[in-house]
Amino acid sequence: MPATAPEAADRAEPAAVRRLTVTDFRSYDRATMEPDSRPVVLTGPNGAGKTNLLEAVSMLSPGLGLRRARLTEMTRRGAERWAVAAMVERHGETVAVGTGIAGDPGQEKRVARLDGESVGPMQLSGVTPVTWLTPQMDRLFLDGAAVRRRFMDRLILGFDPDHGARANRYERTMRERLRLLKDGNRDDRWLGALEAQMAEHGVAIAAARLAWAKRTARAVRAGIGPFPAAEIALEGLETALDGRPAVEVEEGLMAGLRDGREEDARAGMTRLGPHRSDLAVRHLSRDAAAEQCSTGEQKALLIALILADARMQAAERGVTPILLLDEVAAHLDADRRAALYDEIAALGSQAWMTGTEGHLFDMLGERAQHYEVRDSALTPASRS
Ligand SMILES: Nc1ncnc2c1ncn2[C@@H]1O[C@H](COP(=O)(O)OP(=O)(O)O)[C@@H](O)[C@H]1O
Ligand SMILES: [Mg+2]
Repeated sequence: MPATAPEAADRAEPAAVRRLTVTDFRSYDRATMEPDSRPVVLTGPNGAGKTNLLEAVSMLSPGLGLRRARLTEMTRRGAERWAVAAMVERHGETVAVGTGIAGDPGQEKRVARLDGESVGPMQLSGVTPVTWLTPQMDRLFLDGAAVRRRFMDRLILGFDPDHGARANRYERTMRERLRLLKDGNRDDRWLGALEAQMAEHGVAIAAARLAWAKRTARAVRAGIGPFPAAEIALEGLETALDGRPAVEVEEGLMAGLRDGREEDARAGMTRLGPHRSDLAVRHLSRDAAAEQCSTGEQKALLIALILADARMQAAERGVTPILLLDEVAAHLDADRRAALYDEIAALGSQAWMTGTEGHLFDMLGERAQHYEVRDSALTPASRS
């Protein structure tokens, strides 16, 4: 049985990049493509420029993009500054999204445009809902909690576009408090005001994560075709918040921060708050924590999570996110590959998929558009 998501697909409008132009971005001096809303398949040899294009699409949303690169790293060697421009379709409307860097050497900053108007980069939030899975994420369940928090917070951005701004405000306040403490400043009013803000933003972050986890948990518990059914749980401030009034948790966090000033100053870190939380994932049929599963099972769990999140976003927000699946197909057996393609088709998602072998995508046939990437040049490939 192919996996389907009829309830989601019926109501949701898939987001899609309808034109993409990259300028002095990574290995590209300039390239343009005009995809339709079907999935995009990029095939070509190693080093051809496939992942670079996925990274360009990831820059249409706020943040560091799928390689978490420094801004200047993305500028083509020998060029001055990169730019990515796109026409993005969602809710039946088309928005011109532009981003890149500006500023003198050493002072570069990210710039963004929406329909020709300059906006702050955070205002790209929610405009192009995009989710990715890359080979670098294979260690997601094995590495420290920060990686999983980032993964979860990125997914939440699709569900709740204010989540990123909230996290930025929290981080900024936390840094300021810690700097005061390290400098030996014990101004109670100043510290108290910062702690009150940290508690407010911190509980808002935890609440957004909790809401996301509850909704995603339902989809991921059911399993998606041959992808494993899983259980997700949050550990940390979110646990305290579950079933308790937010104000109570906020007051608790504020008091905890106040009482922990000396210890935080000594440790040089903030020991309480949503920046310490973790996302725990369990493989249900194995009855094992994700980190105890095989590499292949971990990958399958990640795909299940991303697909469940996409279903949830489609159902709850009415927009199916763009999925950037770098080198995913090569690591799946034929059954799972077929199921992935069927689920993408059922969701109607414009999934961007890369691989070195064209035959991996044969099962997609006309359901996708295919491009050959060679030496950072794109050629539409016919699949008839
Ligand atoms: N800033 C840059 N300037 C020029 N070339 C770059 C830059 N960053 C990466 N590259 C080149 O891009 C190529 C890798 O492209 P990539 O998209 O990762 O290939 P693949 O098709 O294997 O996914 C490499 O040859 C690398 O040297
Ligand atoms: Mg690659």
